[in-house]
Parts: sequence; C-alpha cells; structure tokens
Amino acid sequence: MRWLTFLLCLVPAAFCSNFPWEEVQVTEKETSNYPDIAFGKAKGAKYTGPRCKVAPGDAGWPSTEDWDRFNRTLGGVLLKPVPPGASCYPGPHQDAEKCNYLLTWARTSRFYSDDPLTVLTEWPQGSTCSVSRFPVIGNCTQGGYPVYVVNATTVRHIQLAVNFARNRHLRLLVKNAGHDFNGRSTGFGALSIWTHHLKDFEYLPRHTVGPYTGRVVRVSAGIETWELKNYMNKYGFTTGVPGGETVGAYGGWIAGGGHHALSSVYGHGADSILSFQVVTADGRYRSVTPDKNADLFFAMLGGGGGTYGVLTSAIVRVYPPTPVTTFKLEFHVRPPSNTTNTLPTIHDIETFWAGVWLYQSFAREICDVGGTHYSYVRKQSNTSYTFDVRFELPHLSPAQISTLLSPLYTRLATDLGIPVNLTIPPATVPNNSSAQPPRTGTGAGPGNTYFASRLFPRANWDNATIYNATFAAIRATVEDGGFTFHGVNFWTPLSVAGYPGTHNSIAQHWREAIMHADVFDDGFRALGGGTMAQMTADEFYERHKMLENVMDGIRGVTPRGGAYVNEADVLEPEWQRTFFGERYVKLVRVKRERDPWGLFWAVTTPGSERWRVVEERGLPTQNGRLCLTGVE
Ligand SMILES: Cc1cc2nc3c(=O)[nH]c(=O)nc-3n(C[C@H](O)[C@H](O)[C@H](O)COP(=O)(O)OP(=O)(O)OC[C@H]3O[C@@H](n4cnc5c(N)ncnc54)[C@H](O)[C@@H]3O)c2cc1C
Ligand SMILES: *[C@@H]1O[C@H](CO)[C@@H](O)[C@H](O)[C@H]1NC(C)=O
Ligand SMILES: *[C@@H]1O[C@H](CO)[C@@H](O)[C@H](O)[C@H]1NC(C)=O
Ligand SMILES: *[C@@H]1O[C@H](CO)[C@@H](O)[C@H](O)[C@H]1NC(C)=O
Ligand SMILES: *[C@@H]1O[C@H](CO)[C@@H](O)[C@H](O)[C@H]1NC(C)=O
Ligand SMILES: *[C@@H]1O[C@H](CO)[C@@H](O)[C@H](O)[C@H]1NC(C)=O
Ligand SMILES: *[C@@H]1O[C@H](CO)[C@@H](O)[C@H](O)[C@H]1NC(C)=O
Ligand SMILES: *[C@@H]1O[C@H](CO)[C@@H](O)[C@H](O)[C@H]1NC(C)=O
Ligand SMILES: *[C@@H]1O[C@H](CO)[C@@H](O)[C@H](O)[C@H]1NC(C)=O
Ligand SMILES: *[C@@H]1O[C@H](CO)[C@@H](O)[C@H](O)[C@H]1NC(C)=O
Ligand SMILES: *[C@@H]1O[C@H](CO)[C@@H](O)[C@H](O)[C@H]1NC(C)=O
Repeated sequence: MRWLTFLLCLVPAAFCSNFPWEEVQVTEKETSNYPDIAFGKAKGAKYTGPRCKVAPGDAGWPSTEDWDRFNRTLGGVLLKPVPPGASCYPGPHQDAEKCNYLLTWARTSRFYSDDPLTVLTEWPQGSTCSVSRFPVIGNCTQGGYPVYVVNATTVRHIQLAVNFARNRHLRLLVKNAGHDFNGRSTGFGALSIWTHHLKDFEYLPRHTVGPYTGRVVRVSAGIETWELKNYMNKYGFTTGVPGGETVGAYGGWIAGGGHHALSSVYGHGADSILSFQVVTADGRYRSVTPDKNADLFFAMLGGGGGTYGVLTSAIVRVYPPTPVTTFKLEFHVRPPSNTTNTLPTIHDIETFWAGVWLYQSFAREICDVGGTHYSYVRKQSNTSYTFDVRFELPHLSPAQISTLLSPLYTRLATDLGIPVNLTIPPATVPNNSSAQPPRTGTGAGPGNTYFASRLFPRANWDNATIYNATFAAIRATVEDGGFTFHGVNFWTPLSVAGYPGTHNSIAQHWREAIMHADVFDDGFRALGGGTMAQMTADEFYERHKMLENVMDGIRGVTPRGGAYVNEADVLEPEWQRTFFGERYVKLVRVKRERDPWGLFWAVTTPGSERWRVVEERGLPTQNGRLCLTGVE
C-alpha cells in the first residue's frame, strides 16, 4: 500500500497521501445521483446562495431526511451535539451527575478538546451555555456553537462535508483542538468539520522533499503539543511545538505562523512544513509543496486557519535531538510590610522598571545565539508588581550561558540591588523516553481571555531614543492601564528560517520582529460576571477603549510593526495590513481563486470582509448569522 502510494506520487497529477485513511475518498460516480455532494469547479464560480448563509429555520435548511441521507453517506459520523454545559441548566438535558463532573473533574482543556463543540476561549460563542461560570444564569442555548459536526477520520468525510455545505449554502467551519482565541472554530448555525481525531504519525530518519534531505515526520492534522513531545522522546528528534499542551500543532498554529521556544534556531512552526495534503473548497483532495499548488503552500502557511481548505496531513522537517536549558528569572516589588515574600523582592517601583528595562535590553543578544524568552510584567496593586521571564536556550553550554547572562544578572544585582543569582540547571534532550514520564495532555480549562498584541521591530532596539520610547509605552500599558504585558522574544529572519520557510506567507514584519507581545485585559474576566452573556455592548466597548488607548501608545512607537493573527484582538484596526502586511493582496487573490464561493470563513482572515456576523447585541462574537456585506 505504502509503496504503491509512493510510486503514484512520482506520477504528475496523481495523489500522494501520507496515510491510508487519506486514500478513502469520494468518487465521481457516487455524486452523479446525489447533487448535494457533487464536486465544485472553482474557475468562474461564484456564491449563488441567499444573502445570509442558510441557518436552522430557513426554508433552505436541509430537512431531517437530507441530514439522514448525508449521515448515511458519511457512514454515521455526523453528530448533532448538545453543549456539555446543558447538564447544569434547567431543561431537558439537566443532569446533576454530569454537571457535577463538569464542575469537579472537567477543569482542564483535555475534556474540551475532546468535545465536538466547545472552544477554550468561551466568549466568542456568546457564552450562551457557559461551562466556566456556575451557578448558571438563564437557559442554555446552542448560541454560537455549530449545529452539526462531522467527526472526520478520512478524507472522504471532509470532502462530503465540504461539498454538502457548498451545495446547500451552509456556514462551514473547521475545528481542531478548539484553542483559537477569537472564535474561528465556532459559529452559529454551522456545519463543523472536526479534525481532532485525525491522529497518525510516522518518523522517517531520512527523506527528500525538494532541496531538503534529512529527518522528517509525517503528521496528521489532529496532533497536539503533548503528543509531539512524547514522539520526540520516543524517536529522538526535535521540532517546534505550541506552548500549550493541548494546542493543535497542524491546525491553527502553523496556519497563522506558529512561534515556539526554538523559533530563533529553527524558524517558526510554518517554516518547517515541507508539504501537506488538503481538501479545497471544490471538494478536491490535493498535494501541496513549495512547487506544486504553490499558491496554497504560500497561503495556508501564514494566511490563517479555516480559510483556504482543510489540511489533513503534512510532512515536517525535524531536527536532531536538541538540548535545551530552561530556567526562570523573577523579581517582585512589594511594600516592606509584606513579609511573606520568598522571591527576590525590592520595595521601589522605579528600580523594578529599571530591572525590566535592563532585561529587555538584552533581547537581541539572547535571540542571536538562538534563545527565546517568555516574560510577564503584572501590576497587582499600586505598590505591588511582578516580573518573570523563562529563558529557553538551545545548544548552549553552561559556560556559554554564563557568558551571555552574567552581565545581566550582575547589573541587576550590583547596579540596581535586585537580589538575583544566575543558577544554570542541566539541559534536557528529547532522546530518551524513560527519562521523562509520558505526558497525558492536560492544560488550562476554558477561559475568557481578551487581549491585543503587537510585533515589535528589532530596529527599535538599535536606537537608544527609540528603545526608551518603546519601553515607556510598555510601562504605560502596565502602570497606567493595569494590563498584563506578556513578551515573547525571538529572532526569525529568513536566514534563520531557511527552506521551506522561504515559500510561505509569514509577513515581513514577523521576520523583522524581536518580540511578539500580548497585552492581557485580566479585568475582562471579572466584568459582567465572567462572560459576554451578561455584558452589554456599551459595557464591552467602554472597556475595550481602555485597551485601545494603551495599544495606540504601542502602535505609535512601532509604526513598522504588525500583529500575529492567532494571538490578537479581533477588533484590531486595519487588521489586513497589521496581520498580513505586504502579503495581503496575494493572499486575497488566492482566496478568490481557490474559494470563489466564500465557503470557508474565519474572522479577520484574507477575504473575510465579504461576510460579517450579524450579532444581535453588536458584540464581536460568532453568535449570529453570517451574511454578505456587499464588499467584494
Ligand atoms: C493555551 C494556548 C497556548 C498557545 N500557545 C501558542 C504558542 O506557543 N505559539 C503560538 O504561535 N500560538 C499559540 N497559541 C495560539 C494558537 O496558535 C491558536 O489558538 C491556534 O489557532 C490553535 O489551533 P487549534 O488547531 O488548536 O485550534 P482551533 O480553534 O481548532 O483552530 C484554529 C483555526 O484553525 C483552523 N483549522 C484548524 N484545523 C484546521 C485544518 N486541519 N485545516 C484548516 N484549518 C484548520 C480553524 O478553522 C480555526 O480557524 C496558544 C493558544 C492557547 C489557547
Ligand atoms: C448518524 O448515524 C449514526 C449511526 O447510525 C447515529 O448513531 C447518529 O446519531 C446519526 N447522527 C445524526 C445527527 O442523526
Ligand atoms: C428558560 O426557558 C423556560 C422554558 O422554556 C422559560 O420559561 C424561561 O423564561 C427561560 N428563561 C430565560 C431567562 O430565558
Ligand atoms: C469521533 O470518532 C472517534 C474515532 O472514530 C471516536 O473515537 C470518538 O468517540 C468519536 N466522537 C464522538 C463524539 O462521537
Ligand atoms: C506578599 O507577597 C506574596 C509573594 O510574593 C504574594 O503572593 C502576596 O500576594 C503579597 N501580599 C500582599 C498583601 O501584597
Ligand atoms: C492607585 O493609584 C491611582 C492613580 O494614582 C489612584 O487613582 C488610585 O486610587 C490608587 N489606588 C489605590 C488602591 O490606592
Ligand atoms: C543570591 O546570593 C546572595 C549572596 O550569595 C544571597 O544572599 C541571596 O539570597 C541569593 N538570592 C537568591 C534569589 O538565591
Ligand atoms: C541524549 O543526549 C544526551 C546529550 O547529548 C546524551 O548524553 C544521552 O546519552 C542521550 N541519550 C540517548 C538515549 O541517546
Ligand atoms: C534514559 O533515562 C533513564 C531514566 O533517567 C536512565 O535510567 C537511562 O540510563 C537513560 N538511557 C540512556 C541510554 O541514556
Ligand atoms: C535615533 O532615533 C531618533 C528618533 O527617531 C533620531 O532622531 C536619531 O537620529 C536616531 N539616532 C541614530 C544614532 O540613528
Ligand atoms: C534611555 O533610558 C536609560 C534608562 O532610563 C537611560 O539611562 C538612557 O540615558 C536613556 N537614553 C536615551 C538616549 O534617552
């Protein structure tokens, strides 16, 4: 079977699947007497449905018989799930035992990633059946959750869903591990393709794709961070992975770019993808490489998830087992009255900021030797601040790390009197599965995070006046705004990324950035009892204006910056330029050519201006009909 596939792969226009379940496909023949599942032809096609995508209750909504036939054709993998939170609400699904389970045991992302509907950031659903807020308020409704879900385990399942949704003018979405922060994997009235159960993996020590020969892995779309970590330990290789244990690595992460702890040595997640398999909006299954369907290679690695097609598997360039030294630096400022401190503590806020300034001034030196660092600056009260940073330092010996960081620690301690010491732990290498217990894949449970973000140009660090202005804007977000500042420092120009990163659409402002930073509105969670369900549009936008104020300060000092689509404010002004930079024009062209129907839609991705969610309360959630805007 495998041999046959490889041989077919050599024949132009033949398919070359990575896995046997990808060879299970819809045939032309079976579509001839079932028009709902007929393939499309993109050339010259356009959307011919009603102004708003067909939703439940509309005349065009498929009948029960239609859904039954569709389900039979799918071999029974069609789900019509009830939101799990329903067990806690009055109504027919109320169930004290299930509700109790949700409250006591289902507090990690494992439960929600394994659920066909739920998404980790809950507010985009409209919070109409909250699983994060008890006791419950009101009644549980489907809200911004999809109505039907195809539990896909073959290419055929995906092709059927794509064709059915396109032919019946349904809203279609793709959900993988459900970690998107802005609701790109949830939507009112939708049919959802659930890629989570596409779990397959193969390690190949030597394989050739284009000019690359070396280690690769074949991966399927549903694989998550924790699974990759286990594979790395088992087979002895290294690859970049998303920061959360349950984040999907080959769904939204690579589609948006994908930064990781080794970005400064191996490039971002998308930079390692050598080829992938995809079902496009016409229902066809295609192989994509830098040379074959090159427009899709470009668009689907950087252009954002859920927009061009459904990726089913990929071949990923991986690296020899890489030793990484990981440790933290932290210091706090507290009033002297607080005697419960165990961490390095100072009492003076100016000294605190001088310390943060000094740390960040080392960003280039750390990233230039391949390091990545993740920092948080938080204001807990007018007199209490915390700073911490985790260094991820690949390939460096303790002596090299000491040379790199002693100047920072020494200046913190002697110039500023912040009592910190450099202690370097041993490096870890993912090459011995018995050295590390296997991971089980749990992460934080659902939340209601709201934040904005920015990519900061390295050039800002090269001029002391501009660096100080940049730092002042960062300080203001925390000190004046009360927001949490989360910096992720990496350095990933094309010279670091290399092949095949040269062929994707990661924007130039990513390549020139020394930091991606999130500005978290921790107070959002507290407002309105924790969900958007209890918030009026006025309350929301009033709060949002405070975030915008500090972001304007940051944008002002980073005119050549941008922002990362996967970790950003859904209300980012001029998002086209900010997320996709100079690539936007080409990204929209590919979208129009490959999906003239507007079948795939995800908020603030290329070409999404053609549609908008008509949300009853005017909030930026996915709880509303998807309608044409008239913008072409
Ligand atoms: C705890 C946590 C940690 C994170 N850490 C990092 C990090 O370290 N680095 C980083 O860069 N980002 C990080 N992110 C952001 C992350 O990259 C995005 O949330 C990403 O969209 C998640 O992808 P998913 O497949 O898990 O989520 P989903 O919400 O299921 O999907 C996200 C988007 O991708 C689309 N999509 C999913 N699967 C496919 C597919 N097979 N084909 C086509 N489209 C698809 C969906 O339609 C949706 O638009 C983190 C997020 C969380 C919640
Ligand atoms: C689809 O068919 C399977 C198998 O018959 C059944 O278990 C499932 O409930 C059906 N789904 C829907 C939405 O009716
Ligand atoms: C919840 O549903 C019940 C029964 O349908 C209805 O009587 C009640 O008014 C609803 N409550 C709210 C808050 O909508
Ligand atoms: C989805 O399919 C997988 C693989 O067949 C199966 O293990 C899982 O139980 C299914 N999920 C649901 C909710 O039906
Ligand atoms: C005192 O410091 C500890 C640890 O640094 C912190 O957790 C606690 O909140 C502080 N207490 C007050 C009253 O600030
Ligand atoms: C913190 O400082 C701000 C601005 O100086 C002031 O308005 C506020 O009242 C202070 N808060 C407390 C709790 O002292
Ligand atoms: C650092 O070293 C100094 C002097 O050796 C010691 O007093 C201090 O407690 C140490 N600090 C930490 C955080 O270990
Ligand atoms: C893993 O790598 C480390 C450091 O290179 C080495 O000391 C160790 O022997 C390796 N372990 C295995 C199982 O190969
Ligand atoms: C792998 O790790 C285990 C546990 O730490 C250790 O006992 C074993 O010797 C290691 N194997 C090699 C080859 O390094
Ligand atoms: C640094 O930037 C400032 C402000 O833009 C500018 O006036 C100055 O000439 C720059 N300095 C150098 C050395 O380039
Ligand atoms: C930048 O700020 C630092 C720390 O406050 C200060 O020492 C330095 O003189 C400033 N440089 C410029 C050019 O403003």
